[in-house]
Amino acid sequence: MNTGEIAFNQGPIGVFDSGYGGLTILNEFLKDFPEYDFIYLGDNARTPYGTRSFDMVYQYTLQSVLKLFEMGVHLVILACNTASAKALRSIQQRDLPNYDLSRRVLGVVRPSVEKVVNVTKNGHVGIVGTSGTVQSLSYILEIQKFLPKAVVSQQACPMWVPLVENNEINSDGADFFVKRDLDLLFSQDEMIDTLILGCTHYPLLLPLINKYVRPNVNILSQGSIVSASLKDYLKRHPEMDRKCSKNGTCSFFTTENPDKFDEASSVFLDFPVKSERLFL
Ligand code: DGL
Repeated sequence: MNTGEIAFNQGPIGVFDSGYGGLTILNEFLKDFPEYDFIYLGDNARTPYGTRSFDMVYQYTLQSVLKLFEMGVHLVILACNTASAKALRSIQQRDLPNYDLSRRVLGVVRPSVEKVVNVTKNGHVGIVGTSGTVQSLSYILEIQKFLPKAVVSQQACPMWVPLVENNEINSDGADFFVKRDLDLLFSQDEMIDTLILGCTHYPLLLPLINKYVRPNVNILSQGSIVSASLKDYLKRHPEMDRKCSKNGTCSFFTTENPDKFDEASSVFLDFPVKSERLFL
């Protein structure tokens, strides 16, 4: 392959989320891959995904992935647990073979599970996530593929995403809901030694989560896990790495109002963002 062909075929890595939560994953990518180009797409107009049916999450996620492909992306990371749990498998197995076998879509559930099964000492694992992620049972099924005897308890925390999106992370309301939901989780199994924050918004609530989780419990946030997994993937797939353009840029797209996106992003990122509107 000559240099001209490489340049023609290259594109940014796409990072997709239903809204802002994926920015916690993007943040780690920007630290770990400073030379790569990224496109972030937040489907803010249709967020939240966590309360939607399988079918809607699949349709919305597929539309977003195809849009990113149109924009020159070869590799999309679904930086959203709900989309990873409810749409990834269908997209990988049903849609990609019809669209373009050289493109790839990866999610956040599998890397998190690979980490958790290495971290847990007693096989008692807790998951907190959106109602959609919890109902999909994806974490339980994936963990039990590695550890068939694992005891996995789940708790849906439907108030946590709105608390983060509305910048209420330091409020009494956040304190109340975080304590309540963690109490509900640990009342299912007091022996949990590893807790996965199975929603990309939840790292923003870490100070409160730490307050209500016993210190001997490992709390796994996904940003660094998913970023390490991407590094490993690109090493194992040099043909995909060659298709990733490397000019150190990051552009932001939202399906809602860009001014609103730029303002709300400041909760997640420590640099200013200038996003563009995208119609799906
Ligand atoms: N970002 C989504 C996740 O990780 C949560 C937000 C939503 O409900 O859309 O599951």
